[in-house]
Amino acid sequence: MTDLKVLITRDAIAKRVGELGADITKDFSGQSIILLGVLKGAAIFLSDLARHVKLDATFDFIGVSSYGNRPSPASELKSGWDSTGEVRLLKDVDQSLKDKNVILVEDILDTGLTMTYLKKLLMARQPRSLKVAALLDKPSRRKLPLEGDYVGFKIPDEFVVGYGLDYAEKYRNLADICVVPRE
Ligand code: PRP
Repeated sequence: MTDLKVLITRDAIAKRVGELGADITKDFSGQSIILLGVLKGAAIFLSDLARHVKLDATFDFIGVSSYGNRPSPASELKSGWDSTGEVRLLKDVDQSLKDKNVILVEDILDTGLTMTYLKKLLMARQPRSLKVAALLDKPSRRKLPLEGDYVGFKIPDEFVVGYGLDYAEKYRNLADICVVPRE
């Protein structure tokens, strides 16, 4: 696949991630936070965001797999897919979240099903606060009402790859966010 089109350049991403890091730094001034990345797509966003957060910060990761009949990559590209929103934990966090400031870090908010499930799961662990940072947001796809607290870019309903996002596990290492043509 060669005809990827750049939607958001690496420079625009770097600028916006810096702004989000500054917002988080300001909002949690004097406090410590846990940046909790949702594998795998958030890994690159988390590593860049973390370097703009001037706080006492630690990392953790949670691994999830969504239930539902995930179609072949080709048909997912064409029509997308919606999971049931029920999530199987592949990797839980390594620590207690009780009384901690937790920022869930995602590459993209789409239907909102995954993040709604994760928020409910993690709220049961009684964090002091639980916020959502997402580089991308596709509000037109939302099935459950969900707002990110720190959102990089709102984008249209395009199939995007790069900067952590994949098509059949490829392209996560692209520096720009690119659109995969549907036809
Ligand atoms: C993507 C993304 C979010 C979720 C968003 O993960 O990273 O976790 O889908 O979709 P939703 O809002 O419709 O629930 P994916 O299952 O593709 O895994 P990955 O991060 O390993 O690529």
